[in-house]
Amino acid sequence: MTSEQFSFRSREEKKAYVRSMFSDIAGRYDFLNHFLSFGRDYSWRKRAIRTVREHRTASGVTSSMILDIACGTGDLSFEAVRQIPDAQIVGVDLAKPMLDLFQQKIDQRGANIRISEGDVEALEFPDGSFDAVTIGFGTRNFTNLDIAFREINRVLKPGGIFVNLELSKPRGFPMKQLYTFYSKFIVPLIGKTVSKHGEAYAYLPDSIRRFPERETIVEMLRGAGFSEARWKDLTAGIVTMHIAVK
Ligand SMILES: C[S@@+](CC[C@H](N)C(=O)[O-])C[C@H]1O[C@@H](n2cnc3c(N)ncnc32)[C@H](O)[C@@H]1O
Repeated sequence: MTSEQFSFRSREEKKAYVRSMFSDIAGRYDFLNHFLSFGRDYSWRKRAIRTVREHRTASGVTSSMILDIACGTGDLSFEAVRQIPDAQIVGVDLAKPMLDLFQQKIDQRGANIRISEGDVEALEFPDGSFDAVTIGFGTRNFTNLDIAFREINRVLKPGGIFVNLELSKPRGFPMKQLYTFYSKFIVPLIGKTVSKHGEAYAYLPDSIRRFPERETIVEMLRGAGFSEARWKDLTAGIVTMHIAVK
């Protein structure tokens, strides 16, 4: 698999590829997520929602309208329900099969979460609708980050928080070397075997490699209108959490 295969000619081409890929792997997504991260993904999501909760307490806000973009099968939304039980949560995703699985989990758990099919680049919500926006492992797949960040800023209330979790590129020895080997060789092999999708788990490390550096994302967030933006590495930089306030 060469990385040229993931060079898309247009935004539409990438969006169609991403939608179809996540639709194809939806049934195996949760298992592979937990397996390939050795279960660390639970703690990353906990950390992201704790950041939202702490911001809420610090700013004295009593409402909690949370938008979980690229919600997929819903694990980040469920963590928000667990930590902020009075929150009203809306999940949005491009891939219907991911949302179908999310809906099944909502029904099983009787959770108060509303979901809809949608694109981060054209959100259906009025300006200033949400106290918080969260994204877990979605931004790498977006086709235009500037448009996405501006849309997120638009739907947030003034003072609202955006927390973005994304797989990252560790910078320090020996994690950088170990992780490069793991993501380049092991992830595609296990991913292909379990998901039966030839490309999805080769696209994964390629999309991490192509994703802008931490500092560039901070600049983009400021350019999109956020008054504060910073980043924090988790698990030695395997994941980076960006935190921005409108
Ligand atoms: C890796 S999954 C993450 C799912 C979930 N947030 C989690 O933490 O496990 C990425 C999700 O992003 C969604 N996605 C990709 N591009 C999108 C876009 N432009 N708008 C909304 N969702 C998008 C995909 O359909 C997929 O479900």
